[in-house]
Amino acid sequence: MEGFLLEYGNLLLRWLHVIAAIAWIGESIYFVMLDLSLHPPRNEHGKKLGVFGEMWAVHGGGFYHNQKYLTNPAELPDDLHWAFWKAYSTWLSGFALFALMYLSKPTFYLVNPASPWAWATGMSGTQASIVAVAFLVVGYIAYSRMCRLISPTMNRDGLLSLAVGVMMVFVAWLSIQIFPGRAAFLITGALMATCMSANVFFWIIPGQRRMVKALKAGQTPDPLDGKLGKQRSVHNTYFTLPVVFLMLSNHYSFTYTGEYAWIIMSLFIFAGAVIRQYFVLRHTGRNDLRFPAAGIILLAVIGWLAAPSGTPAQAGGEQAAVTLEQVQGIVTARCTECHSAKPTYAGFSAAPAGVMLDTADEVLLHAQQIKTVVANQYMPLANLTQMSDEERAVIAAWSGQ
Ligand code: HEC
Repeated sequence: MEGFLLEYGNLLLRWLHVIAAIAWIGESIYFVMLDLSLHPPRNEHGKKLGVFGEMWAVHGGGFYHNQKYLTNPAELPDDLHWAFWKAYSTWLSGFALFALMYLSKPTFYLVNPASPWAWATGMSGTQASIVAVAFLVVGYIAYSRMCRLISPTMNRDGLLSLAVGVMMVFVAWLSIQIFPGRAAFLITGALMATCMSANVFFWIIPGQRRMVKALKAGQTPDPLDGKLGKQRSVHNTYFTLPVVFLMLSNHYSFTYTGEYAWIIMSLFIFAGAVIRQYFVLRHTGRNDLRFPAAGIILLAVIGWLAAPSGTPAQAGGEQAAVTLEQVQGIVTARCTECHSAKPTYAGFSAAPAGVMLDTADEVLLHAQQIKTVVANQYMPLANLTQMSDEERAVIAAWSGQ
């Protein structure tokens, strides 16, 4: 029953998280588009009011006329629409999901038996959970410090972007050393998402509050508040695509199990950023195809790096062909404790990832997946059922039929 409740809670939180993220990212993409599509006001009235730019749109059977004022609108109504709850609820639901899945089973998901560092392989579940949460906190502090040191008044933002890129490569590499691949991708994504939400919480919203307060008091707002909010908001724009990728990567073990996992992760982050850049520029009327081209090249390199290398099947060519019975014997010994209609492994109430391997037909149905996850050592999870190298060699030599 407890296992079931965890599963159901997982589904509900995931639902909430995805909806909140769609709302947040949708709004953020919309505002980037709006900001970059503004034209100077066409009529005298707008100019007189001090409108900085405006955009006309048609949507849902009506016409919309957006006008942007910089920091000095003539009047500021009380019912201003603020955008922050979507960001906060995305982070909160995401962290709750992370706690439910990873922090509740840290020995399965957060301890990396293959880490090159002895302290990491020797961590207890609790220690691994603390390290994972610290990764997010320290990561955000380091990022924020960097912003303040390198470009305190938005004066060296090019250099800052470069530094953030280098930091993400380092984070990708570091996370892969400490955590198992799947968790490493997720935690790197969670760190970027934490930076995004924290940017809203600590920078963008407080700055806007100070600006509104100054306006209400009849003073001129400090332009630095606007600038620093903008700086963080620009980072958020380029983080969105990579973050969504890193969250989805969880379902694709080929991304995070190979020896190039951290390079693949870094390349995906850059691919996401350059693809976003294309759309950002498009809003300003520029159609610079070099950006999507660069994105496609990066994705092709990733495909090349992640593709399975020749299996040792050929090496065992002289031996008798592996039979389905042999494979099923191994699967029953090493996999069905979890991958069954009725799992017996403690903590599993349903077949993980929906993969059931009770019958020969089911094994055949999942043949390719089984070969992949056994070859790249992703399964059995943390090798909890102690699969031997000989057994892996048999699965590798199996034709899958
Ligand atoms: C201790 C429990 C456990 C054992 C033992 C185990 N698995 Fe899994 N397996 C999991 C969990 C949990 C997931 C879901 C992880 C995820 O969502 O990526 C999973 C996911 C999978 C997937 C889907 C992967 C994907 O890319 O989405 C396959 C295929 C799989 N396992 C095959 C196997 C095979 C083959 C074995 C035996 C050699 C095995 N597993 C042993 C727990 C286990």
